[in-house]
Amino acid sequence: MGIDLEKALRNLRSDGFHIISGYWTPLQCKVALQEIQSLPEFVFERGQGGDIRCQHSNRYIASAQNFLNDQFIQSVADQYSICSRANRVVAGIVKHQDGKKIDSGCGWHVDSEKDFQFKSFMYLTDVDTNTGPFMIVKKSKEYAKDVPKFSNLRIEESDVNLYCSFEDIVEVHGQAGTLILADSTYIHRGKKINSGSRYTYTTYFYEQ
Ligand SMILES: [Fe+2]
Repeated sequence: MGIDLEKALRNLRSDGFHIISGYWTPLQCKVALQEIQSLPEFVFERGQGGDIRCQHSNRYIASAQNFLNDQFIQSVADQYSICSRANRVVAGIVKHQDGKKIDSGCGWHVDSEKDFQFKSFMYLTDVDTNTGPFMIVKKSKEYAKDVPKFSNLRIEESDVNLYCSFEDIVEVHGQAGTLILADSTYIHRGKKINSGSRYTYTTYFYEQ
């Protein structure tokens, strides 16, 4: 675990994210999916990108509470920045619908213009280029503040192309159980979904 912790911190500090595949087993993901699917409709709201979110899923289901309490992720958060108080786990569902542009987060953006914003994401379903993968621009922390923003810190695709090097734009594919630790002050987005559906847990961390 010590080696993993060091590696996670190193990658977070150099690129803005760290990926661990197989962090949860297929069975853990299956249980989480079943729990999310058992939630009543009224706990969900529509996100900016047309996705569906349950803001405090950890209050209702055990798998979300377990994700919130994950001690390895907490250690990374504690050592990475002051943004390390695990607040809630949002259950997110992005579902393809014909003729609609649906994503998680409504295009390129930064979550905050503060120094750090730590987040952890768990893919609960397999995610490839068509199923709305998380995308992040390596090293973009340094210049993210200079990139023009419109409502709610959103960024035009043309400005991403202008400010970011093509080779720094990463699309995170992974099987269910893939953990992504990221600093969302880096430029990122959920890619538009072209088919199927994507289920995730996201832990939001706030400053201590
Ligand atoms: Fe975001």
